[in-house]
Amino acid sequence: MTRLIDKYGREISYLRLAVTDRCNLRCQYCMPAKGIDIVNRKELLSYKEMYRVTRVLSELGVDKIRLTGGEPFVRKDFVNFLESLSFNKNLKEINITTNGALIANHIPLLERIKINAVNLSIDSLDRKRFFEITRRDVFPEVWETYQQLLHSNLRLKLNVVIQSGVNTKEINDFIELTKNDKVSVRFIEEMPFNGKGIRQVKEVWDYNKILKEITQKYDKIIPVQASKSSTSKNFRIEGYQGTFGIIPAFTRSICTDCNRIRITATGLFKNCLFDDGVFNLKNFIRKGASDNDLKALFIATVQQKPLNGFIAEANRKKGKVSESMSTIGG
Ligand code: GTP
Ligand code: 5AD
Ligand code: SF4
Repeated sequence: MTRLIDKYGREISYLRLAVTDRCNLRCQYCMPAKGIDIVNRKELLSYKEMYRVTRVLSELGVDKIRLTGGEPFVRKDFVNFLESLSFNKNLKEINITTNGALIANHIPLLERIKINAVNLSIDSLDRKRFFEITRRDVFPEVWETYQQLLHSNLRLKLNVVIQSGVNTKEINDFIELTKNDKVSVRFIEEMPFNGKGIRQVKEVWDYNKILKEITQKYDKIIPVQASKSSTSKNFRIEGYQGTFGIIPAFTRSICTDCNRIRITATGLFKNCLFDDGVFNLKNFIRKGASDNDLKALFIATVQQKPLNGFIAEANRKKGKVSESMSTIGG
C-alpha cells in the first residue's frame, strides 16, 4: 500500500474531519458572543463527498478518524454518517470530539455503531462558570452526557481549555474527578482561535504552569506512557482510577511526531492546525477528480507538511491565527 509520508519521515494516519462550522454553544475562547458568519450549506462537503475522501485516505494508510465541528451533532443525519463510516474496515478508530450538550440520550446508539471513543469538552464543573464560558446554560445536560459515557463501553477523555482568571482554580477539582472515575482529563493551553486573536491575560497558563499547579498539591504524580503521536503528556495520581494529561497546544512541543491532517467543513485540506489551508479539496472533487487524482493530490500535499506549528503559522498568507476554532475543528 502506498502510504502518506511527509518529507520529515512522519507517517500520516489520523484524519480530523470537521462536519460543520455551526455550534450550539458560544465558548469565549472559540467565538464572539454573536457567533461567526456560518457558511451556506452548499459550501459544506456533502456526507457522500466526506465518505469518499475518507475512503481514499484510508486506502493510503489513514486508520484513525476524528469527527469534529463546530459541534458535529448539530449537523442533520450525523449519526447515519457515523454509521456509514463504521463499514470502512480500514478504519481502526472512529472517534468524536463533542460538547456533549445534545447527546446524553444517544450514547447506546454510539456504542451500537461501534464508535471507539469520545472526547468531551467541559471547561468547568460549576454551572454558573460553565455558563459564563460557553454562554449557554447547559451544564446539567453535559454532566448527564459525562455520566452516560462513563458507564458506557466508549473510551472517554475530557477536554478542559485552561483560561487565565476563569477556570484555573478548578484544575485540581478536575484532578479529584480522576480519583474515582476512570476518565482521562486533559488540560489544554488556550490558543488564539477565537475570531479575534490573542486575548490579553494576566498570567500565561502554559504546560509548565498547569503542571506546577498540580505538583503543588500532589506529590505522588506518576508519568503514564502515551502513544508516540499523542497530543497530551499524561500522568496519574498514585491510587487514583483515572489519568490526567496536558496538551501543549499553543507552545507546540508535540509537532515532531505529528501524524495528523485536517479537512474543514468547507473542504479545505490542512497539513497543520496553524496553517491557513493548503488545498481546496471541494473544488477539486466537484471538477470531477478521480480516486487516483485524489490519491496523487494527497501524496503530493502531505509532502508540504511544515515541520511544526510555528513554521506553519509563519507561512500563512493571512497573518497570525485568529479564525474561530469552529471553522477548523481543533
Ligand atoms: P486523541 O485522539 O484522543 O488524542 O484526541 P486529540 O487530542 O487529537 O483531539 P481533540 O479533538 O480532543 O483535541 C484536543 C485539543 O488538542 C484541542 O484543543 C485541539 O485543538 C488540540 N490539538 C489536536 N491536534 C493538535 C495538533 O496537531 N496541534 C496542536 N497544536 N493542537 C492540537
Ligand atoms: N484553544 C484551545 N482549545 C480550543 N478548543 C476550541 N477552541 C480552542 C482554543 N481557542 C478545543 C475545544 C474542543 C477541541 C476541539 O478544541 O474545547 O475540546
Ligand atoms: Fe462550540 Fe466547540 Fe467552539 Fe465551544 S469550542 S463554541 S463547543 S465549536
